[in-house]
Amino acid sequence: MTESEKDPAQQVETAREAFEREFERFVGFTGDSANQIRLSLVQAEGERRVLAELRSRHTGKKSGLAACKKLIGRVQPEERASFGQLVQQTEAAMTEALDGVEERLKTHIEAARIERESVDVTMPGRRPRPGHLHPITLMRQRIEDIFVSLGYAVEDDREIETDFYNFDALNIPAGHPARDPQDTFYTTDGFALRSQTSTVQIHAMQRRGAPVRMIAPGRVFRRDTPDPTHNPMFFQVEGLCVDRGINMAHLKGTLAEFVHRLFGPGTKTRFRPSYFPFTEPSAEVDYSCFNCGGEGCRICKWSGWIELGGSGMVHPNVLRAANVNPEEFTGFAFGLGIDRTCARIYQLDDIRLLFENDVRFLEQFR
Ligand code: DAH
Repeated sequence: MTESEKDPAQQVETAREAFEREFERFVGFTGDSANQIRLSLVQAEGERRVLAELRSRHTGKKSGLAACKKLIGRVQPEERASFGQLVQQTEAAMTEALDGVEERLKTHIEAARIERESVDVTMPGRRPRPGHLHPITLMRQRIEDIFVSLGYAVEDDREIETDFYNFDALNIPAGHPARDPQDTFYTTDGFALRSQTSTVQIHAMQRRGAPVRMIAPGRVFRRDTPDPTHNPMFFQVEGLCVDRGINMAHLKGTLAEFVHRLFGPGTKTRFRPSYFPFTEPSAEVDYSCFNCGGEGCRICKWSGWIELGGSGMVHPNVLRAANVNPEEFTGFAFGLGIDRTCARIYQLDDIRLLFENDVRFLEQFR
């Protein structure tokens, strides 16, 4: 028996049954129960696609129902009217059922979209967490501000150096014992990480000639094992002032003014004779403790004084190495530890805290 010879009414019935089997998943969305659609937005959109496919499969051009429509013209004339009606009614029932579910899904999806896009103003807000500067940066900026207001330029120079800038030009020839405590990290092709910001004295004089007045804050590196007071990388600020007639009084006056501005006008300075290869004479500088004013306390280890750094009159050999005539020019220089000063001011008992970047520590410097 071919398709057209089958009982036409039976064919309509088969198409209807096939439709109903597949439509069954949507019966929950019809009638009153439709009010309780419990689908997420994504699920509802998925169901809507399934429904559209189902509609095209059962009422589209290639559907069983479409095949039945083609039979209308071929059934016996006396049965044609009633068969036509059967096909039409079946199609109308399917379309009505599909339209009903379609309508409900559409309403549900629209409501879900509005809900998703709405803002619940009663929810607690998400507070942005703005960053802030590192304590070393804050300290460096305070130092820079003071020297800039005294007429110094701020130099930012390289961290990788040759032996010439790190040692030779600073009057530390090969084999000089001063190289030992400044042992640093070397590259395989003869470069080294600078062990002191004094290197910038040479660069600055080569670039600017004399007179020159500059400070150079920056990182330096040494082969030290980390402990509460040492770290293989730390920060210094170098100072250099070269001009005609510069003498030790200018050095003392400048550093005295610096500690007045940093720690307060009552701060005293003290210069102790010392030795650095790149200065002659050389001095170590102390300032009276910012906490006890010199009486003695835990911060100054009961001495009343805190070490600021090294200083001195620039050695003629250093001026010569940078092509500055020592007959015409003299100068003073100094080198201070930024992180050391920072640790003192904030009373840190371990300098490594400044390099570990633990936010619980850093957040305190907001
Ligand atoms: N460069 C020295 C150091 O790292 C510090 C220093 C001492 C710098 C005396 C100077 C100076 O400019 O005059 O230990």
